[in-house]
Amino acid sequence: MGTLDGQELPDRSPLRFHKRLPGYEETPLVSAPGLADALGVGKVLVKDESSRLGLPAFKVLGASWAVYRALEERLPEGAFEDWETVEELKEKLESLRPLDLVAATDGNHGRALARVARLLGLGAKIFVPEGMAAARREAIAGEGAEVIVVEGTYDEAVERSAAEEDERGLVVSDMSWPGYERIPSWVIEGYSTMLWEIDDELERRKEASPDLVVVQIGVGAFAAAVTRHFRGPHTSRRPKLLGVEPADAACLLRSVEEGRIVSVPGPHHSIMAGLNCGRPSLVAWPIVSRAIDVLVAMDDEPAHEAVRLMAASSVVSGETGAAGLGGLLWLLRGVSSGDQREQQEEARRALGVNRESRVLLFNCEGATDPDAFRRLVGGGRASS
Ligand SMILES: Cc1ncc(COP(=O)(O)O)c(C=O)c1O
Repeated sequence: MGTLDGQELPDRSPLRFHKRLPGYEETPLVSAPGLADALGVGKVLVKDESSRLGLPAFKVLGASWAVYRALEERLPEGAFEDWETVEELKEKLESLRPLDLVAATDGNHGRALARVARLLGLGAKIFVPEGMAAARREAIAGEGAEVIVVEGTYDEAVERSAAEEDERGLVVSDMSWPGYERIPSWVIEGYSTMLWEIDDELERRKEASPDLVVVQIGVGAFAAAVTRHFRGPHTSRRPKLLGVEPADAACLLRSVEEGRIVSVPGPHHSIMAGLNCGRPSLVAWPIVSRAIDVLVAMDDEPAHEAVRLMAASSVVSGETGAAGLGGLLWLLRGVSSGDQREQQEEARRALGVNRESRVLLFNCEGATDPDAFRRLVGGGRASS
């Protein structure tokens, strides 16, 4: 692999790895004419990650690949050269036990890491902010992890988890800070699986690549994967990129405005729980800060409407999963007043969206709060 901003260029190694995990299946790329009508564009495709390797979000792709690479480093060279099944992989880890995989999480990354730990016969220690919904905490504990509640925000939980790195603790965070960069960059690499799947599916359908890609932003690792895939020096594709953040945790937008990484202090209360992060990831920053065309800081309300619209197109999402659609709806409708209206107009011009545009959205998380989902859409199926 070559490098991009010090990181390896995307290749298919993570996809080949994920295909060997139990339960691997390509997730659907849904064509949603109802959403295209609502947005006034030519076509909308939704990469539906509401069920990925048995979990309700895409994040296990990053956690599993980063764990794999980090474990490989703790073993003699060549140890991972020949394995086909997870059972075979597990046997290769004997000399490392006892070992805990450790992370802080606002939900999905920690649950995913705990699942990977269980799969590999390792322990898991997951640090969570005190404000996390009980259902999310229970889902992590349900994977067999030790859950440690930290008084404070997600960012404080990250700090606490970082102290656990030693012979018996392997910190696998999707957040990155000075001196902790390689593992988070592997997390970003791991997310590429869903992007290769999109390319392959479009190829099978003989369809063109999207003109606009919308991505939800927490610490920016997911957005970094999307940016590398669609806009790196290895590709001639140049879709426009729109990033969506919650208004009170718009850490990437604030950092871009300042021209350097800054924190947005918590507590962050958005209903888009997976996006409640107060500081961009150090390794994501150089990739996303230059390449994303428009960043939107969005209130919760458009996310609710987006959940309903997604459901009407048979895509089951929670507010985080629907946030990309919510951000785009908010921009294209231009219902605000004053300064906000000017910003919306400028953003629309920068994105160049028209009736022919082909838009790619990610349903990055299913409806993980079934009661909230039913209240919003009135019945129907939810993810667990
Ligand atoms: C479901 C979901 N979508 C999107 C994101 C945002 O990803 P990132 O934090 O890499 O920006 C997260 C983060 O946890 C998430 O859980």
